[in-house]
Amino acid sequence: VTRSRILGCGSYLPAKCLTNSDLEKLVDTSDEWIVQRTGITQRHVAADGEFTSDLALEAAKAALANAGVDAQEIDLIILATATPDNTFPASAVSVQAKLGIHHGFAFDVQAVCSGFVYALTTADAYLKAGLAKKALVIGAETFSRILDWTDRTTCVLFGDGAGAVVLEAYEGEGTTADQGILTSHLRSDGRHKEKLYVDGGPSTTQTSGFLRMEGREVFKHAVGMITDVIEDAYAATGYSSEDLSWFIPHQANRRIIDASAKKLGIDPTKVVTTVDKHGNTSAASIPLALCQAVTDGRVQRGDLILLEAMGGGFTWGSVILRW
Ligand code: ACO
Repeated sequence: VTRSRILGCGSYLPAKCLTNSDLEKLVDTSDEWIVQRTGITQRHVAADGEFTSDLALEAAKAALANAGVDAQEIDLIILATATPDNTFPASAVSVQAKLGIHHGFAFDVQAVCSGFVYALTTADAYLKAGLAKKALVIGAETFSRILDWTDRTTCVLFGDGAGAVVLEAYEGEGTTADQGILTSHLRSDGRHKEKLYVDGGPSTTQTSGFLRMEGREVFKHAVGMITDVIEDAYAATGYSSEDLSWFIPHQANRRIIDASAKKLGIDPTKVVTTVDKHGNTSAASIPLALCQAVTDGRVQRGDLILLEAMGGGFTWGSVILRW
């Protein structure tokens, strides 16, 4: 059967870093409050003139190098982002052009913090269906551009960054012992729209708007939704928390990550966490964390990895893959 597997990954963080003490100078907050409620100590912020497609391009180039794949072999680019360079065209098309690729096709996926899980699942389906052979799946965001820097309840939480993987179609054995994406589960429920949204857009205000969030409401739903969609993944594969090598969740908040792992019975030593250094980078957080764990040697070929995300919409989803 045709499957898809990850050949390599790459990531990029803008040079500029904002610490909690930098934020103390902008809004009425404290390092202690931010660390205790979120686990975040710093976040990266894109420079003026540095756009989502620029971050995405750097991550894509690093992923191609890591995979040992030439850009010309790529015939599909899916970029998960809620902060595209422009309303249109898709930022994925800019990345395609900057990589010098003039064949195949590229498009953006918008599922906010769940974007990478949605994009990976979409690319996997396209590869399995034979629509493409090698894909770049990227999560890239510049949330700093849609934050209200006078609102302490949101501006301390997010950061900019990008991560990417190279995915290829291959003929596998068809058992769950195989390499590659083993199962994906996606969900959304638009009734929760008002709990986390941006108060602008082309059709409503003709501005890009600012992020608005009922933090406590999001928190209340997060752990239940995350664990539900992971239970779906376990049911589909027969795997359980004990079988996992690594749990690489969306990095929104240390307390959400810890509570989800605890509820699922996942050993804390198997949880990859980057939220302390990156903040919440939305669609970029999972590939950034994955890349970190690959680079520092934690993730090894053959490892069983669980990805999970939840975000605005609400949207949520899980992927189990063998590295
Ligand atoms: N610094 C200091 N005080 C603050 C700050 C801040 N940055 N932000 C809020 N406060 C104050 C509030 O005003 C409130 O004060 P009050 O009691 O006088 O009214 C107090 O702190 C408590 O506020 P809560 O909102 O109840 O604090 P809570 O413990 O819920 O923590 C937080 C807030 C961190 C946002 C939490 O609700 C949370 O993590 N929610 C999940 C949201 C999230 O992670 N979203 C990311 C996007 S969605 C996703 O990616 C899954």
